[in-house]
Parts: sequence; structure tokens; C-alpha cells
Amino acid sequence: EASGPTTITVFGASGDLAKKKTYPALFGLYRNQFLPKDTQIIGYARTKMDLPEFHTRITSFIKLPDEDKPEGREVREQLQAFLKLCHYVSGQYDQDGDFDSLNRTLQQQERFHERPNRLFYMALPPSQFVNVAKEVRHHCYVEHGVNRLIVEKPFGHDLESSRELQRELSSLFTEEEVYRIDHYLGKEMVKNLLILRFANVFFGGIWSRQFISNVQITFKEAIGTEGRGGYFDEFGIIRDVMQNHMLQMLSIVGMECPVSLDAEDVRDEKVKLLRFIRPLEAKDVVLGQYTRSEDGKQEGYLDDSTVPAGSKTPTYAVAVFHINNERWDGVPFILKCGKALDQQKTEIRIQFRDVPGNIFPHQTVRNELVVRVQPKEAVYVKMMNKKPGLAFDTTISELDLSYHKRYADVKIPDAYESLILDCLRGDHSNFVRDDELDAAWKIFTPVLAKIDAGEMEPVPYAYGSRGPAEGDEFVRRVGYQHDGGYDWPDKNKL
Ligand code: BG6
Repeated sequence: EASGPTTITVFGASGDLAKKKTYPALFGLYRNQFLPKDTQIIGYARTKMDLPEFHTRITSFIKLPDEDKPEGREVREQLQAFLKLCHYVSGQYDQDGDFDSLNRTLQQQERFHERPNRLFYMALPPSQFVNVAKEVRHHCYVEHGVNRLIVEKPFGHDLESSRELQRELSSLFTEEEVYRIDHYLGKEMVKNLLILRFANVFFGGIWSRQFISNVQITFKEAIGTEGRGGYFDEFGIIRDVMQNHMLQMLSIVGMECPVSLDAEDVRDEKVKLLRFIRPLEAKDVVLGQYTRSEDGKQEGYLDDSTVPAGSKTPTYAVAVFHINNERWDGVPFILKCGKALDQQKTEIRIQFRDVPGNIFPHQTVRNELVVRVQPKEAVYVKMMNKKPGLAFDTTISELDLSYHKRYADVKIPDAYESLILDCLRGDHSNFVRDDELDAAWKIFTPVLAKIDAGEMEPVPYAYGSRGPAEGDEFVRRVGYQHDGGYDWPDKNKL
């Protein structure tokens, strides 16, 4: 561990990701005194702009409390102090000279300390990625300090391109130095999964094919690809969220208990689980693409002028995965995701088996454990209860741990805050390892090739709907049993 000062260089500092996620997270860490003392932050991008303009840009997504609130003034003062640490350098992404001068800026900020900590955050489009990694390695790498590189998806678009990228990267940086972000791993409820599973004997004991009928992970967004349709079209929903965010959740739900919480132990188990999953086939998937909303107010995906006419890129997908190991043989894992749906919600739903030898025929529904990742974090168990009163009737009720009630005063940190902090501390547990990425692409590459070749038709669904009826039908067919009549109190609804 280097003892010297820390610099955080944000490449792509004028871009969307930097302003929406990276800088607000850095400010969050600063406010809570989690940035190492002696930290300076250097934004780097091609756009020429002066410092005040840059500061306006990077603060545009930082939410401040009202000025008349007690903390309003304090946070504004903290923001001003934070901005004193935020510098800006403009330069090209492939010019040696520009990176030499970045290096000089870094040295000055470090006051020529010999063992500095350098964190390079790549908030860059994929086309610039390898260039910048090379320039950094050759012009900004400190031999006696610590160098860390945070990289963001996309990590290639299939197995081969991901391996190619990995080959280039590994010739420049060691795996130890690389932090691949999947921001879902920084979310509070995703981090909670390890504790729910491995720190509770009653969950641990029933976590297998013996008691679990199926697992369903849902990611829904209520908005379409507005404004980024052209970018999205190259990827589609499977590459955008399923191959990464959703598969990460699946692997933590499915993996065996790690030997310890050490990053390599945790990631060993995740990789092992992924390797038990059979690659997806076309029959395991239903695709959808949104059309104009029923009231005509929202445009369809193909109405976006940046989307190529006639594109078959899916904006919705549901897929079933089979994990061929002792614990999960025969238990379908269903992942469902889509843009422009009826609501915004991410949740993990474990549905248990029917009660064996049931003495309450037709009066019970299956138990479910639901982990709601967002919004309004919650863990609840749907269960049968005696309907209070003189009659001996059953009713469906719940054990409810809703965070807004149980932890009313706690501010849940943003995923990026949590991940940048992990990186500053050198903890890899919540980052994607090279072999994990490889295993993930293996599962999806065959079906993605079919989709790219235009061999799979997406089913149209209206903007703002539940998605195509074929999707719901598929989920039922592969094993999820939907029970109507569940009386979830209004106050817990989203
Ligand atoms: C990103 C996807 O990785 O995750 C976006 O590219 C998606 O399309 C986003 O909207 C969802 O993240 P969150 O944190 O808003 O759920």
C-alpha cells in the first residue's frame, strides 16, 4: 500500500456518466469523509472548457437540500470545498504529449511524492478505451506507487470481443489493478444477499431444489431509450442489463457459500455457479420491442430517428436459465427485463414449492421471499396466516422488512459511492473478475449471434404496458405460479 497522496483521474469527465454518477458519488464520499485525506480529482476530456464551466457541469446532478433547511448551508459549503479539489485538463485520447502533461499535473498535485496512489476512472465510450489504457500505462503509471483502473461496461459485445479486450488490457495492467464495475454489485440490497443467505439459518436451510420451485429476477424501467436509441440499438436489452446486472444477481442467489468474504473466495464461487449454467438457446427466450403507447403520447422504439429503420433489437427479454448442479437441478431461474414498461422496479422473487400433504386444500398459495432492490428497498416473505377472527380460515399475509419503516433515518448510499470506496480500499469483492466475464459471455453468445443475425423476431408491446403477453405466458409455462387475491397493504405498494 502506498503511503502518499491520492489522485483520482476521471477520463470522459465531460460526459454523461461522469456528471450523473461519478462526480455525485465522489462528492458523497467527500461529504462523509471517506475520501483519503490528501485527495485531488482531475477531470480529463477532449472538450475545451474553463474551470468554472467544468464545475457547473459536474455539479448539475448533485442534489442539494433546500437552502433554508438546517443542512442546506452546510452542504453548500462542503460542495465549495469539494470543488477546490476538482481540476480539469483537456486533451486528446491518443496523444502521448497530452498524457505527459497529465502526468505532470498529477505529479504536481502529489507534490512529487514517490509513492502516490493513482486511481484512473474510465468513464469512456468503448472505442477510446484501449487507447487510453495504453497512454496511461506508458505515460502516467507510477512504478513505486499504487495504480488502479476502474473500467465500465461494455466489456466487448460477445465472447470473442470480450477476450480480445481482455488480452489488450492484461498486457498493460495486472488483474489486481483492474476494477470492472457492475454497479448493481454496489446496490444495498444486492450486497445484502450474502447476509440474508449465509447469516440466517432459516434461509440457508431451505435454499435448494428441495424447497424452491423457481426463482424470478425482474428488472423493469418505465422509460424507453429516449435520447440514446442509437447507442442502445447496437447492444439491445440483453447486453445492456441481462448479461451483467441481472446475471450478477442470479449468481449471488445461486452460488455456494464462499470459504470467506475474501474477494477471490467470493468470485471463485460466482464463477463456479456460472459454469454450471447451460448456454441459452433460442427456445429459452422471448424478445419484445416497444411500440407507441396506447394513448399515443409516447413514441415507439422505431420512431426514434437515431434507431435504424426496421431494427429488430429487443428492448424487452425474458429468459430461463438452468443450473445443472446438485442444489439447483430442475429449478428454473427466470430473468425478465424491459424498457418502457408499466413501472420501474427491480426485484428478486424466490417462489417455494407447494405444501406437501397439504391439509388446507385450495386454501394456500406458495410462499415467496421477495428482495426488492429498488425503489423502496424491502425484504418480505409472503406466507399463509390464520385470518384473525372466530372462523378458522387461511389468509395470505407477509413478514415485512420495508426499509423506509425499519431504517427510516438511514440514507442508503448510492451504488457508485460504495464501489469507488471499495476501489480506494483495494477491495475487489464487488467487481467483475476476468474469468467471470468470460463465463457470463459463454452463456449468452450463441443466442446473441442469432439475434444479431435477425433470426429472432421481437414481439411488439405498447409503451407503458406489462410487456408482451407472450412473456407472461412463457414465465407461467416454465414454472412460476401466479396467485391472485394477495392483499398487499396500500402503504407498502410502490
Ligand atoms: C445501465 C444500463 O447499466 O443500467 C441502463 O445501461 C439502465 O440502460 C441502468 O437504465 C439501470 O441502472 P439503475 O441503477 O438506474 O437501475
